[in-house]
Amino acid sequence: MIEETQLGVQNLIYPLFIEDGNGIKSEIKSLPNNFRWSLDTLLPEIEHCVSLGIDKYVLFPAVNESKKDKIASYSYADDNFYLDAIQKIKAEFPNLVLMSDVAMDPYSSDGHDGFVENGEILNDKTLPILAKMSLAQAQAGIDIIGPSDMMDGRIGYIRSVLDDNDFTDVSIMSYSAKYASAFYGPFREALDSAPKGGDKKTYQMNPRNKREALLEAQLDFEEGADIIMVKPATCYLDIIHILKERFNIPITAYNVSGEYAMIHAACQNGWLDYDSAMSEMLLSIRRAGADGILTYFAKDFAALTK
Ligand code: PBG
Repeated sequence: MIEETQLGVQNLIYPLFIEDGNGIKSEIKSLPNNFRWSLDTLLPEIEHCVSLGIDKYVLFPAVNESKKDKIASYSYADDNFYLDAIQKIKAEFPNLVLMSDVAMDPYSSDGHDGFVENGEILNDKTLPILAKMSLAQAQAGIDIIGPSDMMDGRIGYIRSVLDDNDFTDVSIMSYSAKYASAFYGPFREALDSAPKGGDKKTYQMNPRNKREALLEAQLDFEEGADIIMVKPATCYLDIIHILKERFNIPITAYNVSGEYAMIHAACQNGWLDYDSAMSEMLLSIRRAGADGILTYFAKDFAALTK
């Protein structure tokens, strides 16, 4: 009764990595106990996670280098395994909430979230590509589109393409305040998606800025975002807090790969207690104001609190 913050499995969203093929379960070294799955091995894993109470998932594709090109055309190709996986997971588990990732980097030969020309990321040339990708995901049955690319104007652009194609019920969870962070390293290893040149500082946010997060969130809100996200989470609790105060839509936070990896590394050394460090980290994100938390800890936290 006197505890101000409640945290339960209903607040958690579990990120899963999918690759093309069969019988695959390959561990991601820098993300202990997280794997790249093929669809056939992933389905029983999801069944197990559902039995622990996890009902929200975000799916990321690990794409073979040979499928990557300048315009991320594989992201909306007919034979795309990720779109096929969305469809099959949705068919098998119709009651789960499935969220996607919308950005060019998993499919781009440049490894950037946007379209690259002469070493520059071209914002406006990226928007139609993101919209095609979003539409393909909506057609596959995704519930919530997750643009993680940080291009300006993409929420409005994607929203109108979805609406024009009668996908008015597909929601958008915008990565609104996504910082150019050192904590994405293990994720880029998981997807082999690191930029081939340059960095992401021309489109992701400067960690020194807080008011800019309000502006980014305001624009996304006005363009039609249903949920706004802060990423990473623990170094940015002040941003979560301020967005929660200012916006009357749900706020999510991405407890990113590096945050997960550092707790694991310390625990492997015997320097921290895993269950209590995990719980305290997740609780702090929730206390700051996040309604939902995307976290690689979802399964362990669900098992711990079941
Ligand atoms: C890229 C994307 C990234 C993450 C999610 N989507 C990495 C990046 O911006 O380079 C990182 C998530 C994590 O570190 O767990 N579209």
